[in-house]
Amino acid sequence: MRASAVAVVCLATCVGAATLRGNNTAQVGTKNSTGIFTNYYATVKDGRGVWKWNNALVAYDQTFARFKGQKDLVGAEVGVQSGGSLTMWRKVLGENAVIHGLDINPRCTAFTDPNTTITLGDQENPQMWASFFSKVTPTLDFLVDDGGHFAGQMLQTSYAVWPRIKQGGSFVIEDIHGGHYLEPFFRPAAQFFGTQADVAAVHLYSYMLLVDKVGGKVEPYDPSLAKGVVVSTVTTLESLMPTIKAAPKGSVVVLENQSWGKFIQPSGLFNFFEEFIGLYQPVSMPDTPPGCADSPAAVCVYGTVNSPEQAALYSAHILPTKLVVQIPSEPITIEAVRHGSEWVKTPTEQEIPDQVKQVVAGTAPEAAIHYIKNK
Ligand SMILES: C[S@@+](CC[C@H](N)C(=O)[O-])C[C@H]1O[C@@H](n2cnc3c(N)ncnc32)[C@H](O)[C@@H]1O
Repeated sequence: MRASAVAVVCLATCVGAATLRGNNTAQVGTKNSTGIFTNYYATVKDGRGVWKWNNALVAYDQTFARFKGQKDLVGAEVGVQSGGSLTMWRKVLGENAVIHGLDINPRCTAFTDPNTTITLGDQENPQMWASFFSKVTPTLDFLVDDGGHFAGQMLQTSYAVWPRIKQGGSFVIEDIHGGHYLEPFFRPAAQFFGTQADVAAVHLYSYMLLVDKVGGKVEPYDPSLAKGVVVSTVTTLESLMPTIKAAPKGSVVVLENQSWGKFIQPSGLFNFFEEFIGLYQPVSMPDTPPGCADSPAAVCVYGTVNSPEQAALYSAHILPTKLVVQIPSEPITIEAVRHGSEWVKTPTEQEIPDQVKQVVAGTAPEAAIHYIKNK
């Protein structure tokens, strides 16, 4: 991916159709953001706890709005915890959506209802996924991985789930915290997603990776198509970061080079993961009050002391033949504020039934237990 540097500035009004996803969200930051997920989250005061990063909510505003009201929508989340995020998917996307939760904590089974199943099992176990897709649902419109966050867990989840994502669906991994994920996670992820024939786009946000599948009615989110947005175009990787750092607030930087061929292939993806690894490596991530992140306290905030990359760019969108980088329109504050009043405790060893322990450890004949309430 190397060629001579040419930086041109033009207005995106010259680049085609305005019927694509997210064309009205050129202004992006975190403090003044609005959108279906951001707005819903702000309203959650009581009930089931939910804990999402504010920039992840903006990412869902930009990319998941297409699911709102979709008939027969089926989604899933690994990492149920206190149940508030399962509620969020339905409240925002549609009460009739079916949402499947997966966790290792037996207390999460309390969230089973006619539109919500709970599966107990380890996301790193391929047999757990085989059982889930044979007994719970064969396919999904989206899956969000907010589970254990170890590289092996995220990879096994990617391998098992991506083939089951429907055309036009999305696969998301949240909470990727640290540059140390580059080799054990991002390199094999680049190899995997770069060799799938059905990847439409790979979106990078701080701490988050979001992959879209081809075949949807709506094109993948591309902020360079926003009406009136200022676009700086570069043709080399070397000129990308300097152009990003000098770009006007609220603008977009596009990297395009016709001689490179496909961007979504293993080495192309890995080059971009490496280029933007700073989005995953903050200077620090303090929790307030100190220590609350590891407790079930209802009042807890994770903050971020931004890395230079987190301060300079909001997101990077890898499309088949171009990369689009969104420059924030206001200084970025990346934080995760707990909302809701009911927080599920992690059970002690004595509180976990033996059957659950064996299933989670992979020593039971079955790799998962599914809790399903029929309508
Ligand atoms: C960060 S919390 C989920 C937060 C929730 N999604 C939200 O937005 O409020 C992580 C959850 O992942 C679960 N978990 C951890 N390791 C897991 C594994 N190997 N397989 C499945 N779930 C796991 C934990 O029990 C915990 O409930």
